[in-house]
Amino acid sequence: MSVTAPERKRVRHPVPPAKWPTREEAARSRWFSPITLGTRLVAAERTWVPAMVPWRATDDGFVTQDVLDWYARFAEGQPGVLVVEATGIRDIPSGPLLRIGDDRFVPGLSRLVETVREASRGRTRLFIQIIDFLTVRRRPEPEKYFMRYLEVTDPLRVQLALWLDDKRWREAPEDEVRRFLGEADRVTLETVLTDRELEALDYGYRERVWDLHLPWIRELPRVLPGLFAEAARRAQAAGFDGVELHYAHAYTMASFLSRLNTRADGYGGTLSHRARLPLDVLATVRARVGPDYPVGIRYLGDEVVEGGSRVDDAVWFGIKFAEGGVDYLSVSKGGRFEDAKQPKIGEAVYPYTGESGYECMPTVLSDARGPFGRNVPLAAAIRRALRGAGHATPVVTSGGITTFEQAEGILERGEADCVAAARQSLADPDWFRKVRLGLGHLVRRCEFTNYCEGLDQRHKQVTCKLWDRKLDPTEPTVRLASDGKRRLLPPSWTAPSAD
Ligand SMILES: Cc1cc2nc3c(=O)[nH]c(=O)nc-3n(C[C@H](O)[C@H](O)[C@H](O)COP(=O)(O)O)c2cc1C
Ligand code: SF4
Repeated sequence: MSVTAPERKRVRHPVPPAKWPTREEAARSRWFSPITLGTRLVAAERTWVPAMVPWRATDDGFVTQDVLDWYARFAEGQPGVLVVEATGIRDIPSGPLLRIGDDRFVPGLSRLVETVREASRGRTRLFIQIIDFLTVRRRPEPEKYFMRYLEVTDPLRVQLALWLDDKRWREAPEDEVRRFLGEADRVTLETVLTDRELEALDYGYRERVWDLHLPWIRELPRVLPGLFAEAARRAQAAGFDGVELHYAHAYTMASFLSRLNTRADGYGGTLSHRARLPLDVLATVRARVGPDYPVGIRYLGDEVVEGGSRVDDAVWFGIKFAEGGVDYLSVSKGGRFEDAKQPKIGEAVYPYTGESGYECMPTVLSDARGPFGRNVPLAAAIRRALRGAGHATPVVTSGGITTFEQAEGILERGEADCVAAARQSLADPDWFRKVRLGLGHLVRRCEFTNYCEGLDQRHKQVTCKLWDRKLDPTEPTVRLASDGKRRLLPPSWTAPSAD
């Protein structure tokens, strides 16, 4: 359910006009000035490409030539920092998502590091985002759900007997219960099924970190620190400049931090209990990679779901992470399952379809505030609190950033230390370099209408609609996506002068 839904998405906002700097102005700017991340890693500039999943890995999680080409293309734009997509820390099948849950993934990831180093001519610092996620099943055919997936429990039988005023249902054969429910009307289902059973029927089964009745969920606090630490060790072995712990959006670690986390085993409920596992993971990772290897955290400044964590929680967590020795905090917003739209039968729920999803990747159809720089106040509040507590931890902001002036203003006002752009960098991965060279007028501007996100939702190779404006599929150098209709990579660009 949405917190502020009624006033949303009424106004179509124009993409803000840009006044681009000259090359000299860019050279003097804050955005193009260096920053140290951790004890000694220097990024040449404060421009940043946050993690974006492009759906280009093999089905068993290995780096492909398409993955290499994708990151090489971003690296050609020479951002200060480029973060590789959410990469799974477990050694389990997870579709074409990159994985880092075993040493066999390291050689491919090393090639990725070399590719980015070469394509950016050593200018871009490369991080990898590491993630854990719980089981989310597709929305089932109702018949299959009742015949196969639903567990016929004693409480369900009791509900049925009460609702139908017939004790016989307490003892009825399981098959009969299943058949009855398969044909029952909605009122009956809503009366006799639990909220979770109804959710599994309507949205697909989804685990929660507070499902303590499931042994593997109970064990998460014992298992995850080691899994994250091993993944971080592999990232280090592969040559990444640092690792980013994914504590944001709809995934396991964000859910531990959530106010919705009611675990009663010391890992849920109060702020300090919710932060306990995330801090344990940070400490175990740190111990594994040593004091000088950069370790960042991406987390939510606001979950934007009813009953979820808000900026006050995020401020508190930020200070704890800084005390725990994190090297940067990248602040995102929303992107939760709780308010996601109902998927079609056969599809899985996608955490960017509700109000919280809107806040994560805001589009031009917005409320009066508009989508541009919308999440900056969260980063600013966290940074203010960090500085107040004596921590110099760099803070990264993202969300609707598309001009030099926006980024420079954010840095000038002390709202963040690095300014990230995901979709603008997707629209034109050369944009940082163009701006730095005084060629901002050549930037292909993102339209913030989320064609790319629609592809991500369907797990299709992510591309930008603007790349296809001048598409001639017969051109031999153009590689197409697997549907044969879109460029797989942005059009190439060659800088007219040396830099
Ligand atoms: C296609 C796509 C994939 C994304 N994948 C990730 C991801 O793997 N990890 C993550 O933390 N954020 C992910 N995001 C969110 C972005 O990093 C970013 O926070 C969001 O798009 C808002 O920034 P923007 O307005 O600059 O696009 C993704 C965004 C897009 C568009
Ligand atoms: S597809 Fe649309 S929202 Fe996505 S990067 Fe391209 S212009 Fe921006």
